[in-house]
Amino acid sequence: MNQNGLPHFASGKVVKGFGRGSKELGIPTANFDEEVVNRLPESVETGVYFGWAQVDNGPVHKMVMSIGWNPFYKNTKKSMETHVLHEFQEDFYGATLKVFIVGRIRPEMNFSSVDELIAMIKNDIAVAEEELEKIELQAYRNSPQFSSDG
Ligand SMILES: Cc1cc2nc3c(=O)[nH]c(=O)nc-3n(C[C@H](O)[C@H](O)[C@H](O)COP(=O)(O)O)c2cc1C
Repeated sequence: MNQNGLPHFASGKVVKGFGRGSKELGIPTANFDEEVVNRLPESVETGVYFGWAQVDNGPVHKMVMSIGWNPFYKNTKKSMETHVLHEFQEDFYGATLKVFIVGRIRPEMNFSSVDELIAMIKNDIAVAEEELEKIELQAYRNSPQFSSDG
């Protein structure tokens, strides 16, 4: 394992978040249950990350993830929110989400408007899209963790 705790594999149930994700931002996020957040090694600091994600036993997609307290919304509970880079036809609350977090993009930030937050997340998505094309990061999408029930 690297000094920064990456890569980190996590698996757990998708629970309801604060519900702002899709409505206000137009960027749906899947929230992990508390146990998954509590299992995160301390070396994985808060911030925005990218990696691979699988919903139940579906295909593995690229993802971006926000880990922390969302300073813009002043959350009091730490969360791990995944935005899967794929258009799903419906919500998947209760599904099992598996993620391989492979890289970090930036620290959590505060913004003076929702538009600035959205612009930054769009940039995060572009970074993730590009980084995950790298051959050494493509390898993670075939990890045995993804096909098992872990
Ligand atoms: C890639 C990504 C980056 C994010 N970066 C930040 C950030 O820098 N600051 C922040 O306050 N929230 C950030 N967020 C979290 C959004 O504020 C969050 O998705 C929104 O509050 C919706 O949460 P909800 O679905 O739990 O309501 C980020 C989310 C994603 C997916």
